[in-house]
Amino acid sequence: MRQETDYPGYRRIVRDSFEHWYQAGKDSWTGAPTNDKVTDFSTANAPLPVHGTRRVLDVGCGRGHQTVQLAERLDADVVGLDLLDVWDARRPAHGTARFRQGDFLSFAEGPVDLLVDNGCLHHQRREEWPGWVEHGRALLRPGGVWVVSCFLSPTAEVVAKPLADGRLNWWLTESAVTELFARSGLTATQRTVIDRQFNYQGHWLKYLALAFVRS
Ligand SMILES: C[S@@+](CC[C@H](N)C(=O)[O-])C[C@H]1O[C@@H](n2cnc3c(N)ncnc32)[C@H](O)[C@@H]1O
Repeated sequence: MRQETDYPGYRRIVRDSFEHWYQAGKDSWTGAPTNDKVTDFSTANAPLPVHGTRRVLDVGCGRGHQTVQLAERLDADVVGLDLLDVWDARRPAHGTARFRQGDFLSFAEGPVDLLVDNGCLHHQRREEWPGWVEHGRALLRPGGVWVVSCFLSPTAEVVAKPLADGRLNWWLTESAVTELFARSGLTATQRTVIDRQFNYQGHWLKYLALAFVRS
């Protein structure tokens, strides 16, 4: 397995890994029914805008299909951000969807009302998690909401499941995520568990989606 000690090196591993998966058409998460449930959960927990149109950031938006759904469902101005420019989504019928290529930790176009992280945090190195959450908190307006969806650990332990190419997949627990976000002053308000209908190494895998509000 490839290993990198520096953040730019690990970011290259993540980018190269996902590029390979998208090019090979292995991005089974795109348009998956589980994503509809994350969209439902995100829209149900979206705060009202303070002025005019809601502003939303979709972190690690991939092909941007969910970015467009968020724009339409919330009639929002949504930015889809990803390390890769693989977006191929149709234009939204309502709201706007704009795409940016780059790293979340370098993104500075706040404030936003809603931040959606559907499947991105759980690929970051553990030492980056506090800075990741702190960066997102700073992008949220006070009262803004962060929805995060991640692999739910079936073992009640936080477990790293690295791929052969070095990309990390973390299986997370609700307490680990809640405590991580609490350390940045974000309070959990809602949760849902989404069944992936997927058996792996003897475990039925699920996603955990949590909503956090910035006070
Ligand atoms: C599992 S995919 C999920 C894509 C999309 N949210 C969806 O559900 O269809 C994770 C995405 O996060 C992106 N990503 C990973 N690390 C990132 C980072 N540091 N900044 C921006 N995007 C990142 C990857 O390129 C990949 O497209």
